[in-house]
Amino acid sequence: MFIVVANWKMNGDVAFARAYAQALENFSPSGAEIVILPPYPLLTAIQGNFKLGAQNCYWAEKGAYTSQVSPYLLKSLGCDYVLLGHSERREAGETSASVMKKAEAAHKAGLKTIICAGEKAGEDFKKITFAQLDNSVPASADKTNTIIAYEPVWAIGTGETPTIAQIEERHEAVVEKYGFPTIYGGSVKLENAAEISKLKNVNGLLVGGASLDVEGFKKIIQNCHPVE
Ligand code: PGA
Repeated sequence: MFIVVANWKMNGDVAFARAYAQALENFSPSGAEIVILPPYPLLTAIQGNFKLGAQNCYWAEKGAYTSQVSPYLLKSLGCDYVLLGHSERREAGETSASVMKKAEAAHKAGLKTIICAGEKAGEDFKKITFAQLDNSVPASADKTNTIIAYEPVWAIGTGETPTIAQIEERHEAVVEKYGFPTIYGGSVKLENAAEISKLKNVNGLLVGGASLDVEGFKKIIQNCHPVE
């Protein structure tokens, strides 16, 4: 199963979410798992023919943690997935240690985790990505509840991507070391999605900016290998 994730980041409103869900009605290409990650408040505004996930969560089940969101609440809202350790969160102070606690709590609540890692411009891919993953992936992770998202930070929202050979080589290294399904993120768009999706150890795509146009997002999915 090839997984295509739409990370809306802090975009969209209720009308946008409803129209998006409507545009995905009757859209179910075989071989694709579609996951939509809207901002928290829109989780109730978008339901349909796809899986739902959140862009973050907290590690506690409940309690006096103003502004935080429990993985149990996400589960009760119909979420199957939660994204953790996105570089935009790491940049704002999220540590690998907190990602690990959150991932463990998410697994306990029955959510699948998409754990992000990747190097910044000029950093060593292996050293940084492996260090982040070593410290972010909890012992509760297995092939059924964990997906790794390799996202070179310098490729996010910039229109730049590693070369196809680099993506292939890096995914192979991640899959070889961790054994989890691994998806690629960072400036995925219609023009490059098909080529990236064909690579052996690329098990899916994490799409940010290009997912906001639902018709374009549908085309990306349709163009993915092996999705028909
Ligand atoms: P982008 O974002 O597709 O806009 O580069 C990807 C992401 O941050 O998940």
